[in-house]
Amino acid sequence: MESKILQIHSEYLKKITQADSLSKLDEIFLKLFGKNGEITLIPKDFGKLEKGELTKIAPQFNKVKVEIEQAIEKRREEVREEHYKALNQEDANLSKSVEIKKRKGHLHPTTQFEQETIELFKKIGFQQFESPQIDSDYYNFEVLNIPQGHPARDLWDTLYIDSQKSEADNKKLLLRTHTSNSQVRIMEKYIPPFRMMSLGRCFRYENIDARHEHTFEQFELIYVDHGLSMANLQYLSEYFLKAIVGKDIKARLRPKYYPFVEPGVGIDALCMFCKGETHLQDGQECKVCSGTGWLEIGGAGMIHPKVLENGGIDPKGYSGIAWGPGIERMMMLKYGINDIRLFLSGDLKFLEKF
Ligand code: PHE
Repeated sequence: MESKILQIHSEYLKKITQADSLSKLDEIFLKLFGKNGEITLIPKDFGKLEKGELTKIAPQFNKVKVEIEQAIEKRREEVREEHYKALNQEDANLSKSVEIKKRKGHLHPTTQFEQETIELFKKIGFQQFESPQIDSDYYNFEVLNIPQGHPARDLWDTLYIDSQKSEADNKKLLLRTHTSNSQVRIMEKYIPPFRMMSLGRCFRYENIDARHEHTFEQFELIYVDHGLSMANLQYLSEYFLKAIVGKDIKARLRPKYYPFVEPGVGIDALCMFCKGETHLQDGQECKVCSGTGWLEIGGAGMIHPKVLENGGIDPKGYSGIAWGPGIERMMMLKYGINDIRLFLSGDLKFLEKF
């Protein structure tokens, strides 16, 4: 019996340390302490022993029994701990894989382009000016030589803010139609000479198509100094187009009427899509430039003496340049985008290309 006890002791202690799961430990426990377990059965034979033997074996048996019980319990603890560790590891791995799959966003292409433009003009001394997107009829039209009832207002049909109905007409609030609403605001605030730039969202009551949106961005330079001329304006145009779109960009200045500049020009760039051919290879008229070969990117001109006066500047001493391209139109040229509606579409396929 003694050798049997010693054999159980050594055999099972080994098995217990090797067991790597709670169910294996349960199995071992049953084999030893179950109804017919090896340890359970041993005392049943104690009656067969002689008294001298019993006093020797019984304490030995008890010691082995307790040791094995404790070994099982200890191993149970260890297995549990290993299990939790593995679980935590899995958790950590899980969060890692989620991190990898997370999509990293970036600034909207229009914002990127605007930041690039701002930096470009900061280099030649232009300073940024913020003008409101909801502005009065006064700053958006009236001070720009576009009084109530002037036919040029049709060019900038817009959305009025209803709550101002009772106000005098020129105090009516509206969604600004262009960044030119900053012209007189700047003149009122700064003493010439100055080089300012104003940029941001504008709105129009538009018939929407590949070139027209109701909500879009404009960029405007307002430069007032002694003796400025159209040559300075041409220089600024080239400086911008070459830096932003590329050296081989072709652009033209075309006489155009704007009530707040004199003379006024439209700035056109050669259409990227048909390369000025007016029709595409399949014979269809180019939709982007409506078959004209040129894409109008904005307006510009020498600030009208009356507008300078409205801003408190003496037109005899100073002259001014106003230069205002549409941001999306410029981006269409730069990146070969054929539909202005994509910019506000929120289409990820489009946005992820930038
Ligand atoms: N504000 C004009 C427009 O939105 C563009 C422009 C800017 C024209 C500056 C002349 C001078 O159409």
